[in-house]
Amino acid sequence: MGLSRRDFLMRVGQAGGYSAAFVAMQGLGLVEHRAVAQARIEAAPGSGNGTTVVILGGGISGLVAAYELRALGYQCTVLEARSRPGGRNWTVRGGDSVVLNGMAAQRCTWDTGHYQNFGPARLPSIHTHMLNYCRKLGVELQVEVNMTNSAFLQNDKANDGKAATMRQVANDTRGHVSELLMKCINAGALDAEITSADRERMMDFLSTYGPLNDAGSYIGDDRAGYSRTPGAGDEAGVLSVPLDMHTLLDANFWEGLLFDQAFDQQATMFQPVGGMDRIPYAFAKSLGSLVKYNSIVSEIRKTSHGVVVSYVEGGDKKSIQADYCLCGLPLTILRNIPNDLTESHQKVVRESEYAHAYKVAWESRRFWEEDYNIYGGLEFCNVGCSPIWFPSAGMFTDRGVVVSGYTDELDSSFATLSYREKLEESRKSMERLHPGHGKELEKPMYVGWGRVSFNEGSWIQSYGSGDSLYKKDKHGRRKRVNSAQAPGIVQKGSTGGEKQPTAAATETNGAYEALIQPDWPIMLIGDHTSHLVGWQEGAALSALRAVQAISDHVKATKLASAPSRMNQS
Ligand code: ALA
Repeated sequence: MGLSRRDFLMRVGQAGGYSAAFVAMQGLGLVEHRAVAQARIEAAPGSGNGTTVVILGGGISGLVAAYELRALGYQCTVLEARSRPGGRNWTVRGGDSVVLNGMAAQRCTWDTGHYQNFGPARLPSIHTHMLNYCRKLGVELQVEVNMTNSAFLQNDKANDGKAATMRQVANDTRGHVSELLMKCINAGALDAEITSADRERMMDFLSTYGPLNDAGSYIGDDRAGYSRTPGAGDEAGVLSVPLDMHTLLDANFWEGLLFDQAFDQQATMFQPVGGMDRIPYAFAKSLGSLVKYNSIVSEIRKTSHGVVVSYVEGGDKKSIQADYCLCGLPLTILRNIPNDLTESHQKVVRESEYAHAYKVAWESRRFWEEDYNIYGGLEFCNVGCSPIWFPSAGMFTDRGVVVSGYTDELDSSFATLSYREKLEESRKSMERLHPGHGKELEKPMYVGWGRVSFNEGSWIQSYGSGDSLYKKDKHGRRKRVNSAQAPGIVQKGSTGGEKQPTAAATETNGAYEALIQPDWPIMLIGDHTSHLVGWQEGAALSALRAVQAISDHVKATKLASAPSRMNQS
């Protein structure tokens, strides 16, 4: 007699308990094994012995590629133009000098221990490959607070320009929406959509979700905070007066609220203790002399049996030959290096466009902690420099480094401002959100990635042919285009608020698909060859994919050139 799936699971459960039933359900595909699968390279140990690979760029993709190729026995060399590893993974500390194209050098004079990650500054918990490298390399991580309910949202056009806490905006919005939905249900407007049983359940849900009073109204709640917090004795708390719906509906006011709902911005987020560059330095320590610094690539040529890459090291012209080349250089840089890539690749390299993200960071008294109970997190305002990003490191110490302004310069007039004007805009934003505190900001440092040598852009935003990773919405704001899923990579949804790069190479009329093909013996790596644009995880995944591709190619080439058994006999 056949057994139904339900009966089968019940019997397994009876015999082996919950865990046995759970494993059986996994086997039947009823439960996901894990949210994000780990990429594994399928190649025999030592299969790289005798094969050479030159890797261009010592950013995350180049470092991961070298690390994994070396483990398989390949002989690797990484050519890095700078005197440090990491590429965009760049942490600036007191004593450092920041030299941007077309600007006077900035000297950082922050206190010992203070730093700013001007490139990547957070690691999502779903970016398991990067987290695993941190584990393997001994990079200590701490929680990075992306959002806190104590932080502020501000819009000049709403609430008389006064900032409101995230907790108030989030909870008052939810209360008003619940009240409206309750009214719709009571008026029978949803009778065709829900059964009478679900109608009752929905009303119960809304009463708690809102929360709503017995009359079905939202009249405020302690979730939204207090105008006077509860104390001892007769000091009862006074709830905040709810923000009215008109204010909450104002464009931009609520957008920042959804920022940490994006798949890759959700808690728990992490950061390395002491600065994001702990990661590339840990890779570099492991790789040792495989990484050649101050080595600027000047030409990439295919040969009859591999590649030859010319470069300038400390003023000396040199070249290196290898069987394969992995190129992790930004396309903005690659397009100016004579090379033998095929036209389908060249076209994308030529036509791609990059965003110019910037950050302005200041040292300051931790007034956000001392005066506002804000510990880490982002704040958003609708004009000027947004977001503000409070440090997750060094909480409860006297001073810290705070970001006021982090977005794409090309998206606003910020790009056209002088250095002084940029700093003033940044200070004004802090003043807008926290009146009286703009003047507490000291020792500014500005990094605009469009002006950084060897990058000339922060992340790819178009693969050319007019195809963009972003589309403008009806307000003229750029919104990321949702991506389809890349093999093995889950990336969905969109968010408002801070403009973020993302996966989304699906509407590129084949340009992205051309770029990611190996052009043997050359293959491109970097976050721009992944569906996780602007993330170190994308860079790492692209490197793993390339290592697999080289392994497969080496295996196939060896098989093809091996004498057959018949010939041997
Ligand atoms: N992924 C980068 C961020 O989270 C761009 O800011």
